[in-house]
Amino acid sequence: MEKISRRNALGKMSGASASLLLSVNGTRAFTLADEQSATSQVPTMRAFRGQHQPKPLPFDPAKLKGISEKLIKSHWENNYSGAVKALNTVEQRLSAMLADKDLPAYIYGDLKREQLVRTGSVVLHENYFANLGGDGKPSGKIVELMKEWFGSYEQWEMDFKRTANALGGGSGWTILAYNVHLEEFHNYWAWDHMHNAAMGYPLLVLDMYEHAYHMDYGAAAARYVDAFMQNVNWDEVNRRTEELKIRK
Ligand SMILES: [Fe+2]
Repeated sequence: MEKISRRNALGKMSGASASLLLSVNGTRAFTLADEQSATSQVPTMRAFRGQHQPKPLPFDPAKLKGISEKLIKSHWENNYSGAVKALNTVEQRLSAMLADKDLPAYIYGDLKREQLVRTGSVVLHENYFANLGGDGKPSGKIVELMKEWFGSYEQWEMDFKRTANALGGGSGWTILAYNVHLEEFHNYWAWDHMHNAAMGYPLLVLDMYEHAYHMDYGAAAARYVDAFMQNVNWDEVNRRTEELKIRK
């Protein structure tokens, strides 16, 4: 006799008959109540709360130089806030799916991939907005570190901007990061929300997705990169740098 899983059997039942007692292979009997108790054995975990809230813009979006208020508001509302909502949904769905013992691992894996995408989007967007709203004049410890690792601020900027321009017309992020494992500073190229350097702690984050500039600059990504540099909040970059307590 063909073996029938509980889930398959329940899937074949109508709502009206779901409360009936079933027998499988003449020995196994269960009810919908059994199914419900099986799916409630995994308690809600902190990791899957799905309670993230969008962080407000830390600057007046009308006061950026060369980046319009309309674009920034659209970016914050649609792309960033959308990622926060999606991350919450993904976490809550993961919790529900974990409780389903019959769920194939590859289906679970699809949602784990989404968790990675949305997490990357939330983290990088929050760092991006937080390092905007400044006067674009580099100062402080980060400049000393740039001299140490790139020779000069100008050479660091050349590497950062060229990395960003390489992503023009496509998507991704350019990230000045301290690699916590290697104990090195680098401008990293990131193709999307998921693919960035392992153990790279973000110090300065530049969104190179077209939604970050197309409304203002069309396909002229390099002009957007120049505008971004005029609005960098270097105090925030220095705050992140101090947070690291870098060993010399
Ligand atoms: Fe974005």
